[in-house]
Amino acid sequence: MKYPVTKPYFTDEEMELISDSLDSGWVAQGPKVAEFEKKVAEHEGVAEGVATTSCTTALHLAMVAQGLGVGMDAIAPAFTFVATENAIVMTGATPVMCDVYRETFNIDTDELQRIVETEYEEKSGRLINKKTGNVLWGFVPVHEFGLCCEIDKVNALAKEYGLNVIEDAACALGSMAGGRHQGAFGNSSCVSFHPRKSITTGEGGMILTDDHALAKRLRELRTHGSTVSADARDKGKGFLLPEFPEAGFNYRMTDIQGAMGLAQIKKLDMIIGEKRKTVSVYNDIISRKIPGLIPPVEPEGYYHTYQSYVCMVNTDVLGQSSIEEGGKFRDALLQKLEDAGVATRQGTHAVHTLGYYRNRFGYVPEDYINAYACDRLSVALPLYVGMSADDVECIAGRIADAMNEMKR
Ligand SMILES: Cc1ncc(COP(=O)(O)O)c(C=O)c1O
Repeated sequence: MKYPVTKPYFTDEEMELISDSLDSGWVAQGPKVAEFEKKVAEHEGVAEGVATTSCTTALHLAMVAQGLGVGMDAIAPAFTFVATENAIVMTGATPVMCDVYRETFNIDTDELQRIVETEYEEKSGRLINKKTGNVLWGFVPVHEFGLCCEIDKVNALAKEYGLNVIEDAACALGSMAGGRHQGAFGNSSCVSFHPRKSITTGEGGMILTDDHALAKRLRELRTHGSTVSADARDKGKGFLLPEFPEAGFNYRMTDIQGAMGLAQIKKLDMIIGEKRKTVSVYNDIISRKIPGLIPPVEPEGYYHTYQSYVCMVNTDVLGQSSIEEGGKFRDALLQKLEDAGVATRQGTHAVHTLGYYRNRFGYVPEDYINAYACDRLSVALPLYVGMSADDVECIAGRIADAMNEMKR
């Protein structure tokens, strides 16, 4: 039996709703997207959802609408998918990286405070980067793999210094901290509907916010900067082109995707529930039988939605003396598992080690040592709806066999 690292969960309903869209002839952004936005926002307990073509474009749109641009810094974790930093670069601003905790993969809030308080100085009520002169705009924390970051600490720091926060919740639809869903922490948050996420629209994203004025501006900017949506224009004087007071983007989700999203959002709680059941089987077997892997944590008060089930290679137990040595072992393990029919991935990457960022900022891996360790030592195991306890047992057996062979 072969195990993919993940797979989306569909029923007949996706096709039925997509057919509705095709039959109606309205396939660009329209009523289905509007309904999908409402349902996602309702699920997360937020007033507004603004759908986009991806989480990357959602991040970019939110950043532009919230004033991030040239001559400014935004601080984001060094261990995240490259899109977090790329979106900052797309605005003309400079990404400043912050290290993460190895246990949760999320931004280290003590380190965040240290960066703000040592690398910036206050001038005329603004925080200025002592080296570059850039103004600190704010933070882009990530809820990595579906576990919320320490958002209360991030928000407190932002409040103290009058900074902005946009949450990268690409992996975290449905995730909670302190009894609230992501999206309801007082900031705009951006989710992804890529097929590796809990629910999918093929590609797609959404900005969630309680701020009606911001939502209005996001809707204008996503439609070329127009003050009237295509849907609204169709219902009014459709023959006249609307006014375009500023240069915007075309970041609109199609109604075909909206239809798919409507079928998917109904399944979200079930999908998360099923994945969480599988995760508890994994956690139990790994902690009993595979000391060479450290399972992911769910701290008290958090609700992890496990977009991915990401373990770390336990270099202490395996006797490896460096991240490089552990990384070589991890790569060999992933190859052996691939050969044994178990698809895996490294969790995500340390962005400062990627070509563009390395070349532009001259980073070395050790600059963000925990991010580097997570990059080299993380292992995402198969997780999707439909896995049985026997499947997990079988995967764990193949991991144990591979590790035993490697020890010989
Ligand atoms: C943390 C994070 N941010 C942003 C993105 C980008 O999402 P999308 O593929 O929808 O653009 C991803 C995708 O994997 C992600 O994991």
